[in-house]
Amino acid sequence: MKKINDWQWYDYPEVGSTNDEIRGFLTVPQQKIIVSARRQTAGRGRRGRSWIADEGNLLVSLALECGLDKLGEMIFIVSLSLLETVKSFDKSAPVKLKWPNDVLLDGGKLCGILLEKGEGDYLIIGIGVNIVSAPPASGMLYPLSALATAGINVTREEFLNRFVAQFDIVLSLWKENGFTPIRQRWLQNVKGLGEEIAVNMESGSKKGLFTGVDENGALLLDSERGIEKIYAGDIFYLAGK
Ligand code: BTN
Repeated sequence: MKKINDWQWYDYPEVGSTNDEIRGFLTVPQQKIIVSARRQTAGRGRRGRSWIADEGNLLVSLALECGLDKLGEMIFIVSLSLLETVKSFDKSAPVKLKWPNDVLLDGGKLCGILLEKGEGDYLIIGIGVNIVSAPPASGMLYPLSALATAGINVTREEFLNRFVAQFDIVLSLWKENGFTPIRQRWLQNVKGLGEEIAVNMESGSKKGLFTGVDENGALLLDSERGIEKIYAGDIFYLAGK
């Protein structure tokens, strides 16, 4: 075990999924745990998809006690911290956020986040970052990107250390000032605000203008039926890259 700030960090050569591996550590309350792996044999993504990664990419889960009711806000805290981490390596990197929980580099998906409930009040935050390479895009909904391809050469350990520092900063801001400043900073960095998008949901697809997110993180879509709130779905930018 190593330490990053007050987090306990366990790194493995190979696991099924770091989101599963971390569950074994959540028997003691009040801990901040990180589990990472060089390879995953059963990495998973949102909505039943799988997460494929070459060795050298970051595959990590963090667990902290904060309550399931904060899951919606945590997505914004994590994605904003990831964006700030990329910018800390290259302040002019073309990095943007995408609702609900993606980080894009040059229009391609760089990071994925999978939040799950853990034991008690523990929340499990699974993060995949394409550090050295983007996996083949076949079967993926979006184009993918990687830091190395964009000329940002860092290791998974360097990225993780920088991310944890950023995450602690954004977490403190949230604890002291609530969700409002997080939401504002997230909106300053989101792709496609005011532009036409399509949202694919389990119940079907809708088109409209992406006008923002509400105080609970729901997407605001200005459609022919007025402003609609969307709670889950995949968005597509209709204006292209
Ligand atoms: C997505 O965009 O669909 C979310 C992808 C999340 C992938 C990460 S990799 C580390 C952690 N372990 C998993 O099995 N999934 C997450």
